[in-house]
Amino acid sequence: MAQPTSRSPEEDALLEKAARLLPGGVLGGYSVPRELSFVVREARGPRLRDVSGREYIDYILGSGPLVLGHAHPAVVAAVERQLGRGTTYFQLSEPALELAEEICRAVPCAEQVRFTSSGSEATFFALRLARAFTRRDKILKFEGGFHGTHDYSLMSVEPRSPKAFPAPTPDSAGIPHAIQDQVLVAPFNDLAETDAIVAAHRQELAAVIVEPFQRLIAPRPEFLHGVREITRRHDIPLVFDEIVTGFRFAYGGAQEYYGVVPDLVALGKIIGGGFPLAAVAGRRDIMRHLSPDLAGSPDFVAQAGTLNGNPVAAAAGLATLGELRKPGTYARLFATGARIKGALEEAARRAGLPAQVAGEAPVFEIYFTDRPITDYRSTLAADRERHAAFTRALLERGVVKASHKFYVSLAHGEAEVQRTSEVFTAALAAVAGQRGA
Ligand SMILES: Cc1ncc(COP(=O)(O)O)c(C=O)c1O
Repeated sequence: MAQPTSRSPEEDALLEKAARLLPGGVLGGYSVPRELSFVVREARGPRLRDVSGREYIDYILGSGPLVLGHAHPAVVAAVERQLGRGTTYFQLSEPALELAEEICRAVPCAEQVRFTSSGSEATFFALRLARAFTRRDKILKFEGGFHGTHDYSLMSVEPRSPKAFPAPTPDSAGIPHAIQDQVLVAPFNDLAETDAIVAAHRQELAAVIVEPFQRLIAPRPEFLHGVREITRRHDIPLVFDEIVTGFRFAYGGAQEYYGVVPDLVALGKIIGGGFPLAAVAGRRDIMRHLSPDLAGSPDFVAQAGTLNGNPVAAAAGLATLGELRKPGTYARLFATGARIKGALEEAARRAGLPAQVAGEAPVFEIYFTDRPITDYRSTLAADRERHAAFTRALLERGVVKASHKFYVSLAHGEAEVQRTSEVFTAALAAVAGQRGA
């Protein structure tokens, strides 16, 4: 089908409105060069269509929730059913209870659940819970790890000039200086250094928080087991941020996939089925601090949210999980991801570029470097300009990815795999040519 190749006056006008009304012309999170910006009109399965009628293969997938693809019929039906029954109650509801039950059934560490609206809230409250439980203040996170946008999380996510461990570098203006004293930073995949930092600060540490699969970096086989052993030895709660990996790497998330069970978990993205819903879950003796029965006592952790466990979001999440439970689903997701990831590796090899594709089949990214990607500092060796040029070259050819990630869905089929492979070849040739010219 012939596609428009240029932006319509209607879409131009919308982008002008965005520039006027939104800081930087964006919603936050995702931004592209102005000449390639577009406004989404609709999305179905693995594809987006913009206001000008141009179609894109989508590897952003709403930043990860849409593992079934856009507008999946089971999710749409569940949401429509719930809409007719009311959109929010601030009270117990059947979808919220059913979702809590399914999380506890699936996720090894989950004995109880507290819903929130965003992943950032989930990690924020997981850390507050750990502080209440241990009556200690500090947290340890890993350099390069992202846990959302709250003050404790935005430390050493992307430091330009990393400091000596365990000193943190704030990633945002506006974070109180005092917070830096509460956060320690360790190198991902480095057990010896992590052990030394934890041992030195064990009496002050309330929690160790980690993305078990950090951004695009897989853990070394011994790393998560080691962190589990160290935190257990010192009685420090271990928090897995499974907002990306939960129900994606396996039905039980990274805990099941890597075989390591933390004390608390932050979940988001997939469990909300494309709606604002996330959760903290974990050990009952830690989660009990959220119980209103403790209000007024020094043990009480205050957490409330207007949309906690929103029934529409819970219905969408439940419908998504229902699809994921079908036999063979994860094998299919991994097989599709492996083909697309493999196509990228092959295209880079043929383009003669020093590059590697890091990650697991459902979530991966290319790094333009020969150096193995094992932690944040090794990512600094990658050619960022070339990477930005590649992301742009894909977009020019109708393939959309986030600036640092490909998400694969169950809706990506043969046509998308084929077309994406062709686009990889053309985009990498263009990128290689640019530099050579
Ligand atoms: C690992 C991880 N933690 C936390 C978050 C924050 O979640 P949210 O954007 O829902 O606040 C994200 C978001 O991408 C994430 O990838």
